[in-house]
Amino acid sequence: MAASWFSGQYVLSVVVLFLLLSSFPSSFDKVSCTEEDEMLPRIGIIGAGLSGTSSAYFLRQLFGKKATIDIFEAGKVGGRAAVININGLNYEAGASVIHKNNHYLVEFSQAFRKNTVRLSHSPGMVGLYGTDDILFQTSDWLAITLAKLVWRYGTDFYNIQSWTKNHIFPKFDRIYKFQDQGLSFTTVEDLLGAMGEDMLNMTKHSIKDVLLDAGLSQRFVDEFGMAAMRNNYGQTTDVHGFVGAVSMAGVEPGLWSVEGGNQRIAENLLWGSKATLVEAKVSTVALIKDELGTGSVSYEVEYEQSGKTNSREYDILILAMPLEGTKNEINFVDFPVKVTPFSQPFHKIVTMFVQGRINKTTFGLNSADDFPPDLFTINRDTFFNSIGKQSPVDSHQKPEKSPPSDYAVWKTFLNQVPSEEQVGKLFDKYEDLRFVDWMAYPEYKPNMDLPPFMLYDRLYYVNAIESAAAAMEMNVIGSKNVALLAFNQWQGNFDKIDELHLPSVSNDKSDL
Ligand SMILES: Cc1cc2nc3c(=O)[nH]c(=O)nc-3n(C[C@H](O)[C@H](O)[C@H](O)COP(=O)(O)OP(=O)(O)OC[C@H]3O[C@@H](n4cnc5c(N)ncnc54)[C@H](O)[C@@H]3O)c2cc1C
Ligand SMILES: *[C@@H]1O[C@H](CO)[C@@H](O)[C@H](O)[C@H]1NC(C)=O
Ligand SMILES: *[C@@H]1O[C@H](CO)[C@@H](O)[C@H](O)[C@H]1NC(C)=O
Repeated sequence: MAASWFSGQYVLSVVVLFLLLSSFPSSFDKVSCTEEDEMLPRIGIIGAGLSGTSSAYFLRQLFGKKATIDIFEAGKVGGRAAVININGLNYEAGASVIHKNNHYLVEFSQAFRKNTVRLSHSPGMVGLYGTDDILFQTSDWLAITLAKLVWRYGTDFYNIQSWTKNHIFPKFDRIYKFQDQGLSFTTVEDLLGAMGEDMLNMTKHSIKDVLLDAGLSQRFVDEFGMAAMRNNYGQTTDVHGFVGAVSMAGVEPGLWSVEGGNQRIAENLLWGSKATLVEAKVSTVALIKDELGTGSVSYEVEYEQSGKTNSREYDILILAMPLEGTKNEINFVDFPVKVTPFSQPFHKIVTMFVQGRINKTTFGLNSADDFPPDLFTINRDTFFNSIGKQSPVDSHQKPEKSPPSDYAVWKTFLNQVPSEEQVGKLFDKYEDLRFVDWMAYPEYKPNMDLPPFMLYDRLYYVNAIESAAAAMEMNVIGSKNVALLAFNQWQGNFDKIDELHLPSVSNDKSDL
């Protein structure tokens, strides 16, 4: 493991450092106060979802209050964290749950606690839908649920929890320690490798194989594993093991969300960063200055605002949106190389909202009331991925009209828009049928491309992290990495790029 930290990246850093020092022989020893201000970068960020707004927040902490930070947004602040209004009440339409071990999101909710009320999600009844009926359902009674779980899955539930607790979280949590020390990584491989070689190895195998290797049963993998992957990523247990492990961790208790909607976190971060929001779609990024060997570049960002094309210039540019799978694709011009030599195709997800009543016939129930609040599917060819009963995100809102008493608001995840007949199979009576389409997250497979965080000098790509796993906390980890990387490169802190400081981490390395 140690060998890789002293390989190419290190040598490159030394060479770059040498060039930098030799081309500016005196700039380091006579920096006056005003010159110091001039050395502050102009930073542009494209996208104001969780990634862009948290990047702005971290960059502000690193570069101080005088640096210029602009953030471009073509749609709404929050991006894939967004609410939908049904009958006067808002519901989460995109990213909906946060895990208690998500350090940064927990930290943000504390930093902005005046604006952040956390809603906790207590696990309700959960059902698994097989080919044409509900094949497993938890009970209101914990003892009965445990008995049913042991009957069907033996000790698998105990095993999966100890696997995430002992093998996943302790290694995953190392990234927080590295980031506290200011360490940054140029590639997703290096970032995962820093957590542990086995974390990177998981991206090379399916979650199915990883779980079987960890001693879980085939039945557990085919049922609960499939349910988790279909619900969280619209995919199967063929996804790679890292995203699979993130997905399995989300099955545990301790989930919460933000009153008013999770997009509030992005709004708070934007406010806290004091960055300037430019409500515009960026169409083109041009490389306009590129001083060989010095890493000194400028980018011209062209954007469309009220029918006109404008432009601004930056020294550091952060892409905080997926490069594929967005309708707002960016043209990169005047670069000597292709900026995006990788592929990162995105998976489409449809979220369907209805206010209505479950069709009990389809689920073989005596009464629609027996339907569990969360139902997951486990077969690849079932036309929907999961159905969940929804609670509004805001306790102050009042419904516009009172729906029939046997109606509830349901969110169904699907991989495509269903036919009217399919909707009828799920709900025999309904109103307010609504669809939200997402280019949701990457299409995951073992050994897929893991794009780099650095696309060119001082041009960074936060959403590369999504090839490991898309989730709000993961994107924020990606933002912190990119903010540190930009800062370390700007300041010449090359020892904090792709390097681990062995003494400070040696204690917990011994357990590898
Ligand atoms: C249906 C669904 C459910 C999910 N559930 C969860 C969950 O329960 N928990 C969880 O942790 N995560 C969940 N996720 C994942 C989570 O939403 C993402 O990981 C996270 O929100 C990504 O944030 P981001 O800022 O990187 O991207 P985005 O939120 O997509 O933000 C990118 C922003 O960039 C803007 N943009 C794009 N191109 C341009 C341009 N050319 N010019 C200007 N602006 C541009 C877009 O308008 C967008 O607002 C879910 C995702 C989906 C789709
Ligand atoms: C990588 O993971 C696979 C699947 O879990 C496992 O079989 C293999 O032994 C691992 N390789 C290393 C080098 O750890
Ligand atoms: C309810 O589902 C059954 C079969 O699953 C279907 O035949 C029936 O048409 C559905 N009801 C409605 C109102 O669509």
